[in-house]
Amino acid sequence: MPDDGREVVRVRGVVKDVRPGLGLRRKRILHGISLTVHRGEIFGFVGPNGAGKTTMLKVLMGLIRASSGRATVLGHDVGETEFRRQVGFLPENPYFYDYLTGREILRFYARLSGVRAAAMDKRVATLLDWVQLSDAADARLRTYSKGMLQRIGIAQALIHDPEVVFLDEPMSGLDPIGRKQIRDLILRLKRAGKTVFMNTHILSDVEMLCDRVAILVAGRIRFQGRLEDFLDGDERESDVVLSGLPADLASRFEERYGAELRGHGTRVELRVKEKEVADLLRAALEAGAEVQSVTAYRISLESIFMRAVESAEESS
Ligand SMILES: Nc1ncnc2c1ncn2[C@@H]1O[C@H](COP(=O)(O)OP(=O)(O)OP(=O)(O)O)[C@@H](O)[C@H]1O
Ligand SMILES: [Mg+2]
Repeated sequence: MPDDGREVVRVRGVVKDVRPGLGLRRKRILHGISLTVHRGEIFGFVGPNGAGKTTMLKVLMGLIRASSGRATVLGHDVGETEFRRQVGFLPENPYFYDYLTGREILRFYARLSGVRAAAMDKRVATLLDWVQLSDAADARLRTYSKGMLQRIGIAQALIHDPEVVFLDEPMSGLDPIGRKQIRDLILRLKRAGKTVFMNTHILSDVEMLCDRVAILVAGRIRFQGRLEDFLDGDERESDVVLSGLPADLASRFEERYGAELRGHGTRVELRVKEKEVADLLRAALEAGAEVQSVTAYRISLESIFMRAVESAEESS
């Protein structure tokens, strides 16, 4: 067994074909997905609409079967059922009986997932508090806003204190305050040592939350790893702002250090490779310029994402 206890999710070569309709040709949605999620990690499964994120999640939840390949969660094949008590799941469009109240629906799911009767009321109250629905606990779901429903969905996923939680677009339909509440909740799970797998396309949330990501484009993973590892040290860049730099020198720097020059006149900003910074600063100071600032330039997830989508388009 390759699982050493640290691998909470292990997917190897998962392919999913569907037949869109009677007599129609088979369509491949997942083209051999392999990924690993470690214990205690917040993992972002990121990709544009239609990439196959929900399909992968359905395979992991045992709701549909992979056409080939293998997927395990907590060391169990996803086809097994017994280990599911340790798993929480927020589906993409959760559906609830809307004549029940928030408290009732959580009690319902608590019973379903085997929470002990003695512990139930306290657990339900705790979850309502975590998702800030204590005040609305006894109102029917029919009266809930979209954001409130999304939060009750998350409470439902966590009611039985699972080891690993799968969230399909947890921030969907939430305003910035609601998103912050969910982010805080996800970080609380991480502090408690839980593992979180989330599907999303909200890149800023991923940047703030995720330890590692996989970028899925058209059913293929284009990047997987820690965001900061995407660029190796040689490629890291810094923004250097200088004032009082003689004009001819700025363009000479452009050439000599392969710098990207912005701004005109005596105040300029140069983006240079990290390894060139010291040299450039020395030359600038010698020429009588003043150094205003040096800031490490962090590649954004957005640029990684756009690159992944573009290279997928080129190769298709
Ligand atoms: N049962 C099915 N039959 C036919 N096509 C399907 C089926 N299930 C999914 N698809 C197609 O597979 C692709 C991936 O769908 P999926 O819902 O997994 O994407 P997603 O990444 O979750 O997208 P979104 O961000 O919009 O939620 C889509 O083109 C979808 O139309
Ligand atoms: Mg989806």
